[in-house]
Amino acid sequence: MEQKLLLSHLATDTLKGLSSNPKYLLSKYFYDDEGSRIFQDIMNMPEYYLTDCEHEIFASQKEEITQAISTGNKLFNLVELGSGDGLKTKILLKYLVEKATNFQYTPVDISAKANLELVESLKKELPTLQVEAKTGDYFRKLKSLNGHASIQKTILFLGSNIGNFSDEETTEFLGQLAAYSNTGDKILIGFDLKKSPRVIMDAYNDPHGHTRRFNLNHLVRLNRELDADFDIQKFEQQTTYNPQSGEVKSFLISKTEQTVQIRTLEKSFHFEKWEAIFMERSRKYDFQTIERLASNHGFKVVQNFSDQRNYFVDSLWEKE
Ligand code: AVJ
Repeated sequence: MEQKLLLSHLATDTLKGLSSNPKYLLSKYFYDDEGSRIFQDIMNMPEYYLTDCEHEIFASQKEEITQAISTGNKLFNLVELGSGDGLKTKILLKYLVEKATNFQYTPVDISAKANLELVESLKKELPTLQVEAKTGDYFRKLKSLNGHASIQKTILFLGSNIGNFSDEETTEFLGQLAAYSNTGDKILIGFDLKKSPRVIMDAYNDPHGHTRRFNLNHLVRLNRELDADFDIQKFEQQTTYNPQSGEVKSFLISKTEQTVQIRTLEKSFHFEKWEAIFMERSRKYDFQTIERLASNHGFKVVQNFSDQRNYFVDSLWEKE
């Protein structure tokens, strides 16, 4: 009799992605401990303008942002989806604490280690801040966050994390946010804007090899966690940009015909020479699209906070 395997989310999603034609893996699984570290290296390289732009927005417009999200003296909950190291958010948190704003902070991240480090550092840097971190996939966590309907919420979704989603996932995600929001609740979403393809390609085809390492680390993770035997030497990484759809796409491409075993799945996967695995989408937006996304889900755009170069926007929406 065939034994039913009890598979983790990673295992199930990997099975589905590598059994598909064309093959894909989910970008949320980049962020194991090593992946989160490599992403720090990406954010620290000068070519990765996204972090610098959003940092600039928070540093130079923290007063305006605070003004726009504060609720007078009433307590509000500041929820951050995909908080990571919280570096940009800390600028805002520090300012809100200084202004004695009545709020609590709920960071949600898929990396337990990133969460732990964030909470530890906040204890030191902002000891009076009320923090309750949650670890997990934010699609799943969002559901469990409900229950304090009386407290106004502001949800932060920064860093152009939204760019990872397909159109369907964007609709599902914003639909969930809308369902979870009450009239007057706000969301601040970071969108990377369309710009010269050269600037974009430098950020995602970086000369330091961090993006390449970031992608290959996904296979290393599968080797470790699913007992797979990927030879990372046999894959090369490639990034493309489509200036019409605004999609940056990252691929790992098999340099030879090969078969990879994944023992936890009790399966092997065949790769043709030059067959690609779709690893990640990092979408770039225009204002028209942002407006449309907001209104399609019952939000109105209250204010757009951009950097000097107009590379990036943190768009503040209010639930109608
Ligand atoms: C964390 C999803 C915003 O898409 O720009 C950076 C991840 N991938 N370089 C992005 C990433 C390759 C990043 N996000």
